[in-house]
Amino acid sequence: EVGPYRVGIITVSDRASQGVYEDKSGPVIKELVEEAGMEVIDCLIVPDEKSEIVKKLLHFSDQRQADLIFTTGGTGFSKRDVTPEATKQVVEREVPGIGEALRSYSMTITPKAMLSRQTAGIRGNTLIINLPGSPKACRENIEYIIKPLKHGLGILS
Ligand code: MTE
Repeated sequence: EVGPYRVGIITVSDRASQGVYEDKSGPVIKELVEEAGMEVIDCLIVPDEKSEIVKKLLHFSDQRQADLIFTTGGTGFSKRDVTPEATKQVVEREVPGIGEALRSYSMTITPKAMLSRQTAGIRGNTLIINLPGSPKACRENIEYIIKPLKHGLGILS
């Protein structure tokens, strides 16, 4: 009997990591993931530093053997936004269709969605998906992908 998919959540934000700003996106992702019948193994907060993001991605994929990692934040144009670059550094196979689908759906909500450089990819048995930083964007993204996502995880596991 296989258990529920195990999910790691990484909030990427300088301000949230310093405690000057409350992380609202991590909890939204957790709520939606649990509603979808998956298990959240941990929620971590890191600053917008590529090496720190890479370290946590490796922690969840290689050490914790998560089925899925959601990152939130750091996908835009700010000089400090490096989450897609950290993701590309650790994945073995990119899944460009997920970023494309999320952007194209999100652009029906706001044209600003084209500014997100979010991507996705696979490292070992772990699928990594970038979400934008706002709790609203996280909710919109997850509600849109949850069904095909479960199908993909089924093939990966
Ligand atoms: N996607 C959805 N679904 N809803 C949104 O409100 N906001 C956009 C975009 N994607 C948004 C969205 C905005 S305003 C930006 S700047 C980019 O994501 C990048 O966000 P990030 O830098 O916080 O990752």
